[in-house]
Amino acid sequence: MVQPYKHEPFTDFTIEENKQAFEEALKKVEKELGQHHDLLINGERVRTDATITSTNPANTKQVVGTVSKANSELAEQAIQAASDAFDGWRKWSARARSEMLFRAAHIIRRRKHEFSAYLVYEVGKPWKEADADTAEAIDFLEYYGRQMIELSEGKEINSRPGEQNRYVYTSTGVAVVIPPWNLAFAIMAGTAVAPLVTGSTVVMKPASNSPVIAAKFIEVLEEAGLPKGALNFVPGSGGEVGDYLVDHPKTALISFTGSRDVGTRILQRASVVQPGQKHIKQVIAEMGGKDTVVVDKQSNLETAADAIIVSAFGFSGQKCSSGSRVVAHEDIYDELLEMVKERTEKLTVGNASEENVYMGPVVDQGAYDKIMKYVEVGKEEGRLITGGKGDDSKGYFVEPTVFADLAPDSRMQQEEIFGPVVCFTKAKDFDEAIEIANNTEYGLTGAVISDNRQHLEKAKQDFHVGNLYFNRSCTGAIVGYQPFGGFKMSGTDSKAGGPDYLALHMQAKTISETF
Ligand code: NAD
Ligand code: ALA
Repeated sequence: MVQPYKHEPFTDFTIEENKQAFEEALKKVEKELGQHHDLLINGERVRTDATITSTNPANTKQVVGTVSKANSELAEQAIQAASDAFDGWRKWSARARSEMLFRAAHIIRRRKHEFSAYLVYEVGKPWKEADADTAEAIDFLEYYGRQMIELSEGKEINSRPGEQNRYVYTSTGVAVVIPPWNLAFAIMAGTAVAPLVTGSTVVMKPASNSPVIAAKFIEVLEEAGLPKGALNFVPGSGGEVGDYLVDHPKTALISFTGSRDVGTRILQRASVVQPGQKHIKQVIAEMGGKDTVVVDKQSNLETAADAIIVSAFGFSGQKCSSGSRVVAHEDIYDELLEMVKERTEKLTVGNASEENVYMGPVVDQGAYDKIMKYVEVGKEEGRLITGGKGDDSKGYFVEPTVFADLAPDSRMQQEEIFGPVVCFTKAKDFDEAIEIANNTEYGLTGAVISDNRQHLEKAKQDFHVGNLYFNRSCTGAIVGYQPFGGFKMSGTDSKAGGPDYLALHMQAKTISETF
């Protein structure tokens, strides 16, 4: 009997023993940095001349590791390997496939801080964020494993006298998995094992900023008993390898998480039927966000200010769920802004591989330059309250930054900045606040801070986001507790970590027998 699902607890770093254990893991991983990781195709390691070098964004001289880099020929081999392995893998029992996930979860749990340390080095995560990312990866393995066992029973449908009807879920085929770098462990692992556990075979192209943690995860799956060809690992450029995998006529399912631009490109390309293609491609595309924290007049401003800080500056604002917009009632606007300013100025920023800071760097030079450009836009469109400076001499550091008095349709309030920048807009009443909150093309997360029950009820009806939170931050969804995914241009609302997720990766089959 499989134990009921419970999410993985977070580590309390105020406990000295936990702090020391994490410091030891950082030291252990530091000694391993610089290693090379190969592709995995049909169970074989493949080394290429071309490589991707992953560096620490807090210390750009530090190489975290290198990975072999696939091209379209190797992507072709990976698709063929996945296609050849499909018939064997889909016939494994659901239970056996799930048990592989449970073993992988166990392996990661045993070496939890080690994986989190890789996240600190590879994408600059502060300890708390790295720990949460690893916990979420474990949760996906445990949750989807259980869900698959349940789903393998099929669903109840009606039968009539002399007729027996069954409704079952069947495996889809070759799944292409393209994750982002920000939830570098959780989303990468979750989107890979979801199709895998349903009996699809997988070709995964990790994000180029976080290929080492992905390579470490592949090692875990191998240790857990991954059969050859069931999952193939091909780091490479989005333009070359990504397009090739998406376009391939044997690709049956694409699970993408990333930006709106790449997601819509994938949706478009996947809709083109290629020569030799015998099916319609299923696409899961989870994309960007421009998420709002609404603060009501009747509300606890301490709760509001704390929620804004966590939403805006957790992992330097580099979450699709980050609360980059605040819409506050005019009567409490100035007081709230002052409270957020005070809290922001107390945040620590630095290299998380050296100390337990609140905020690390942003992920790369491209992100740094983009954010600093937005800071200039913010100065033109609004009023800089605090922050606004950057330093890319050693790593990509941007101060936590607050702007006030932005027009609802300003660029700062419409475009995804994906950095530690939060912008305030004033509303004359709650109705207007919800109207402003809804006026972006995205609809991923949102929070309402209010003690007014009627307003909360209104938000349930009218605040059009996939994940709506009351009196807390708009980040930090937990697998199995807050299924995650957005509306509008935020994506296909697949709700990762939710009860319907695996079914989206499968094909339902009705079997009707007359006797
Ligand atoms: P990105 O779109 O730049 O890259 C995502 C992945 O797509 C990477 O693996 C990249 O290599 C690949 N890619 C790039 N070009 C491609 C192409 N032409 N064909 C196929 N694949 C291609 O996004 P990112 O910078 O890695 O991640 C940040 C974005 O992801 C933000 O917009 C964020 O909001 C979004 N995101 C969304 C969710 C969600 O659940 N909605 C979760 C995390 C991140
Ligand atoms: N699932 C992540 C969160 O909720 C992105 O913050």
